[in-house]
Amino acid sequence: NWTMERFVDTEIERIRAVVGPTGQVIGAVSGGVDSTVAAKLMKEAIGDRFHAILVDNGVMRLNECEIVHETLTKGLNINLTVVDASEEFLGKLKGVTDPEVKRKIIGNTFIEVFQREAERVVKESGGAVDFLLQGTLYPDVIESISFKGPSATIKTHHNVGGLLENMKLKLIEPLRELFKDEVRVLGTNLGIPEDLVWRHPFPGPGIAIRVIGEVTPEQVAIARKADHIFIEEIKAAGLYREISQAYAALLPVKAVGVMGDKRVHDQVIALRAVQTTDYMTADWYDFDGKFMRKVAGRIVNEVDGVCRVLYDVTQKPPGTIEFQ
Ligand code: XMP
Repeated sequence: NWTMERFVDTEIERIRAVVGPTGQVIGAVSGGVDSTVAAKLMKEAIGDRFHAILVDNGVMRLNECEIVHETLTKGLNINLTVVDASEEFLGKLKGVTDPEVKRKIIGNTFIEVFQREAERVVKESGGAVDFLLQGTLYPDVIESISFKGPSATIKTHHNVGGLLENMKLKLIEPLRELFKDEVRVLGTNLGIPEDLVWRHPFPGPGIAIRVIGEVTPEQVAIARKADHIFIEEIKAAGLYREISQAYAALLPVKAVGVMGDKRVHDQVIALRAVQTTDYMTADWYDFDGKFMRKVAGRIVNEVDGVCRVLYDVTQKPPGTIEFQ
């Protein structure tokens, strides 16, 4: 794809011109395709003068932090710092059940942790950090223009305004003219592993909005295990790319079950898998019975504390993709 190759060259030149010969850039990475592609582009343009920061918020997927760390440092040679802030996040989420409050807590804590790290990098670099990298895509640009009203609070997103003002950072957004499919082509051209290039989107508040009710480490662990089994089976069946997004949610409900020869009173997992192109409307994925039986069987057998599995067959609209 010649236009993409040209995009890489021109963008690298542009980044070098904007940042200058000694300037430094910081940016958060999440393990998603957008932030990884943006980070790799920075690496190509300015090497280790780009500082990537991965914040472990305690509500990421199973082994996700380790996998992202491995891929970005060993695979892509990106100058990455992992900050384990899971206790800080989980501590603040204690007792909280309202999903919008969960989102606010996670968003604000993320900003605090990231700001602390950014300040450390600035200090260590002797004050030469001037830019904040964001993996903003064209649809995000459009959305933030058209949703500048009360509707912007329907689902709150990370806000970097404070960082830009307090630390006098300038925003650098190399993907702001691209669509998702173009970012995937770009990622492939930049040598990013296929697994990462095709990853389903994962919400910033992560498993916290998929554990319905209070987010405790125990509940997160249950949701995480069930989710891992579901995704593993989807991949094994060769369905991962056909499905746009899939996850397991943990419901705060107890159901009766018979495990072995004992009656149990355990929790319920809800599975959701959707196909969509724009994430504004979505249809549930029509798995065959054999697949469902296997996944449900594995979840009740392998995940302690779960005795029942449900599948969400609600279209969007009216049902959103996330449970909360
Ligand atoms: P809904 O649930 O609104 O989700 O149908 C549409 C898409 O947005 C993602 N989503 C979020 N992403 N922070 C995020 O970064 C959030 O608070 C959030 N809520 C929903 C969701 O995963 C889906 O891809």
